[in-house]
Amino acid sequence: MAEMTSSSAASTVVDQLKSKIQQRQAKIGIIGLGYVGLPLALLYSEEKFSVTGFDIDQRKVQTLSQGGSYIYRITPPEIQAARKQGFSATSEYSQLTAMDAIIICVPTPLNEYHEPDLSFITNTTHAIAPHLRAGQLVVLESTTYPGTTEEVMVPILEKENRSGLRAARNGAGSEKEFFVAFSPEREDPGNTSVARRDIPKVVGGLNSDAAELAAALYGSIFNRTVRVSSPAAAEMTKLLENIYRCVNIALVNELKLLCLRMNLDIWEVIEAASTKPFGFHPFYPGPGLGGHCIPVDPFYLSWKAKEWDFRTRFIELAGEINSNMPYHVLASVGSALNQHRKSLNGARVLVLGVAYKKDIDDLRESPALTIIELLQKEGVQVSYNDPYFPFIGKGRKYDLQMKCANLENLGQYDCVLIVTDHSDYDFRHIVEEAQLIVDTRNATKGIHSAKIVRC
Ligand SMILES: NC(=O)c1ccc[n+]([C@@H]2O[C@H](COP(=O)([O-])OP(=O)(O)OC[C@H]3O[C@@H](n4cnc5c(N)ncnc54)[C@H](O)[C@@H]3O)[C@@H](O)[C@H]2O)c1
Repeated sequence: MAEMTSSSAASTVVDQLKSKIQQRQAKIGIIGLGYVGLPLALLYSEEKFSVTGFDIDQRKVQTLSQGGSYIYRITPPEIQAARKQGFSATSEYSQLTAMDAIIICVPTPLNEYHEPDLSFITNTTHAIAPHLRAGQLVVLESTTYPGTTEEVMVPILEKENRSGLRAARNGAGSEKEFFVAFSPEREDPGNTSVARRDIPKVVGGLNSDAAELAAALYGSIFNRTVRVSSPAAAEMTKLLENIYRCVNIALVNELKLLCLRMNLDIWEVIEAASTKPFGFHPFYPGPGLGGHCIPVDPFYLSWKAKEWDFRTRFIELAGEINSNMPYHVLASVGSALNQHRKSLNGARVLVLGVAYKKDIDDLRESPALTIIELLQKEGVQVSYNDPYFPFIGKGRKYDLQMKCANLENLGQYDCVLIVTDHSDYDFRHIVEEAQLIVDTRNATKGIHSAKIVRC
């Protein structure tokens, strides 16, 4: 029998993995079991794949192993159902060799100088490399600047694997290859209007085989996959989406400040503009940006742009406006108290809602934390209430050590400051009880009271 050429060997490997995926026989490893990785693991599990989750956080591994959950919107029965389907969690990277596809969902924060901190990606990549085997597909999902997959991850994987494997690129294939792709996560926490599988999944492969495999992998849990020409194009797609949000939120935040000065209601204006059936998409002002994505991701691009001697001015301006919003809230509370002949110093203020947006249990980069700290610096006695957080301990930037106050006797506070408009709150009742309300979210829409200051 004629010997198989390298490229036909490679195409056999691709066909085999594709058919394993289609028949739900591919083993899937998901690294990083946080807000992105854990729901993804459950989706694959629901589709009858055998899924192994990897995390360095022992508490998470232990909780999952006992059938528990640490994410509010994921219930323990969902974890238990996945476990019956074969889902397990581990910190043992050696188990990666048995996987057919490895999806990486680790954090990509900024460091103290507001620069990309790729250490989670590089640490994970160093940890994967020794366990890599030929024919595996490795997909990065963490949001990052264009070039990370190809310039940062692939060289580590190629250098540190133990079998002389190379990433498959266009050209002659070989049996000693692994496949690499990038596919951004597009979840919108708290948004229940779109089912996860209805959100199209963008994939960019290092070569066409990798793209085909990644499209097959995601095609088994998402209704539509969108292929772009490279991992960098997929990385840039995610950044464009988030920069678009960041810049538009900054625009409405700035216009809100003008409207307040002109005695116009920005919310009314946005609602009216939204009736235009084309060319307008509403964005809403708020107390500042929060979450892992919008305040962080745009700066991955501005950092990378410098390598190309390019300044991303929209990103910088939007960052400036958005990061100023907590200071605007502070000034608004000060002036509202002043109207009541009170000062910030010594005032008792209840911050209502500390999650970065409504109905979610995520505190990351929440503007509420900055606002609490700014108020405390002015001598305010700050309390908070949030049904999702019985306690606020140490975070990345702050160490507040506060306990959630109950909502009884709201009249004891000089001011109730609405920072997050959770659906659980009965705002009509809150307005009735409180002495003074400062509303950063238009949560009191339709309630008429002289106690309300909209800011
Ligand atoms: N949360 C979102 O809504 C969202 C949406 C879109 C994109 N993203 C992006 O997805 C990525 C992950 O975000 P997330 O919100 O899931 O983060 P997360 O902090 O909730 O979870 C990350 C997990 O990775 C684990 N981890 C860190 N280093 C590890 C390592 N070396 N090996 C194994 N596990 C490791 C952590 O212990 C943690 O459990 C980020 O790049 C983020 O920007 C997040």
